[in-house]
Amino acid sequence: MRALVTGGAGFIGRHVVGWLLARGYDVLALDDLSNGFAANLAEFDGEAGYEGLLEGDICDDATWRALADKQFDIVYHLAAAIKVRDSIEDPRKTFQSDVVGTFKVLEFAREQGSRFIYVSTCLVYAPAVDGTPINERYPTRPASPYAAAKLAGENLTLSYYHAYGLHALILRPFNTYGPFQRTDGEGGVVVTFLSHYLKGEPLVVFGDGRQTRDLLYVDDCADLIGRAGESNAAGSVINGGLGREIEIRDLAQKIAGDEGRVEYAPHPHAQAEVWRLVCDNAKAAQLLDWRPKVSLDEGVAKTRAWMAERIK
Ligand SMILES: NC(=O)c1ccc[n+]([C@@H]2O[C@H](COP(=O)([O-])OP(=O)(O)OC[C@H]3O[C@@H](n4cnc5c(N)ncnc54)[C@H](O)[C@@H]3O)[C@@H](O)[C@H]2O)c1
Repeated sequence: MRALVTGGAGFIGRHVVGWLLARGYDVLALDDLSNGFAANLAEFDGEAGYEGLLEGDICDDATWRALADKQFDIVYHLAAAIKVRDSIEDPRKTFQSDVVGTFKVLEFAREQGSRFIYVSTCLVYAPAVDGTPINERYPTRPASPYAAAKLAGENLTLSYYHAYGLHALILRPFNTYGPFQRTDGEGGVVVTFLSHYLKGEPLVVFGDGRQTRDLLYVDDCADLIGRAGESNAAGSVINGGLGREIEIRDLAQKIAGDEGRVEYAPHPHAQAEVWRLVCDNAKAAQLLDWRPKVSLDEGVAKTRAWMAERIK
């Protein structure tokens, strides 16, 4: 089996590449390195099945021409402009990468006759009411151009499933964290807090910190994505999260261990915040036999150990 992983040099993408190689796939990563690093994939160099990184933009037809003579059994589509704040300030870039780009990847998969896994996001959902876990029938309410672009990508994907019979599946991972995640700019909250903690800096919470997140360790996220490619659940939309929520102020406290190191600041994009997020995983368990294996405490400890090696 040969797989193409768009966004393969990014945070989650490089873990998906690792998951696939461990399962014996041949894997090519495609990335324009706008937010990823070739070095994220360095440990796979020379590994059986690893076909390397093609540096290219998914929006650029030249990228697809360069791949035209290769045959892929499956395309995992993770490449995206992921920053919520950037999407509010400059929605064009987000729509270009995440909508036009997704269309180009879908066209490639259609020409190839390959399977297609679209990695969407929990940010498409309306906030969870009273902490009731969000299942896939829960209303969507894109609160940022990023969420809207990901939802548009979902709809494009579903249209290719219905109109062309493309073997396509949509995943909505909840907030994912772990090794290789960027800590600069708009990194995930866990690695941002850990980075400040390890540098002896204050941990800054936006707003009152009562917004919640369901935090998924990246190995579990890659396992969800990998399994989706091997399932027969085409046409489905499937959540993946830990199934537990934590308030951001409690996460800061957990990481800092000291209330004195936690500071509060005005929320920079409160209008685009999803205030409460907690995942109902039942469908992933049923269709993919997937369950998260890494608890929040364990995942934070693993991530801290990985980061501590790099922040010295
Ligand atoms: N990190 C999370 O918490 C999370 C949660 C749910 C879903 N997701 C989704 O998972 C996917 C991966 O996210 P991530 O956190 O690993 O982000 P990331 O930025 O690390 O990975 C995305 C990769 O796509 C590449 N890319 C962006 N635009 C491109 C383009 N036009 N052409 C080619 N490559 C391009 C970037 O360089 C980057 O390496 C995204 O689709 C994101 O929407 C992420």
